[in-house]
Amino acid sequence: MKGVILAGGLGSRLRPLTKITNKHLLPIYNKPMIFYPIETLCHAGIEEIMIVTGGNSAGEFLRLLGNGHEFGLRDIYYTYQEGEGGIADALKLCEHFAEGQKVVVVLGDNIMEDDIGPYVRKFESQSTGARLLLKEVSDPGRFGCPQLEGDRIVWIDEKPEKPKSRYAVTGVYMYDNRVFEYCKALKPSARGELEITDVNNAYIECGDLHYDVLAGWWTDAGEFDSLLHANQLVAARQGAS
Ligand code: G1P
Repeated sequence: MKGVILAGGLGSRLRPLTKITNKHLLPIYNKPMIFYPIETLCHAGIEEIMIVTGGNSAGEFLRLLGNGHEFGLRDIYYTYQEGEGGIADALKLCEHFAEGQKVVVVLGDNIMEDDIGPYVRKFESQSTGARLLLKEVSDPGRFGCPQLEGDRIVWIDEKPEKPKSRYAVTGVYMYDNRVFEYCKALKPSARGELEITDVNNAYIECGDLHYDVLAGWWTDAGEFDSLLHANQLVAARQGAS
């Protein structure tokens, strides 16, 4: 299975930190942010990764990561997202790379404690469809938020004013190759982006969306508070005082 890391965008919620550099190059404790999603995929046994970057400092990813061998990767590929078309727009650039296979997509600002290997193995044994990872959070309105009926997700609302559960849809998405058809069929949302939540809802509509709930801590790092929180979580894991 192949891995995709989405590391584009202008990081506008973190200006001026992102005025001249890419959000995913900012530090989280002792490493650049992009290292964490790479390690998440590597630990799960993924050996080939496509990095979709964009905006500022795109060339610095190559200088920083090279051919990926330092991480134990067989190969690392790079592509560039023009503009700010959203997560599903960035994913469209990976169709050729996927070569008809399933993909595990991680958002470049998502940092987590769990080894996602067991969830990826479950997805491997799933013949079709998608698999998401949820996490209970105190502020579900900041994220894609699932509506649950029994143990099924019946719909996902993107950043709802009135969240229908206490869960966030984290930025780890596992998809079969239909994902590229769904991405191509999307219309831009009110904020002018192709939303990954619309892709996930397309899988719900055909009854093929599955999920697990993360056991360990998880955070994004796209705003000042979550960036600070990510640093604190990683520092504590590293035993910093
Ligand atoms: C994106 C997705 C959202 C998801 C989140 C996870 O939000 O749109 O559904 O819950 O990532 O980090 P964004 O960070 O782009 O606001």
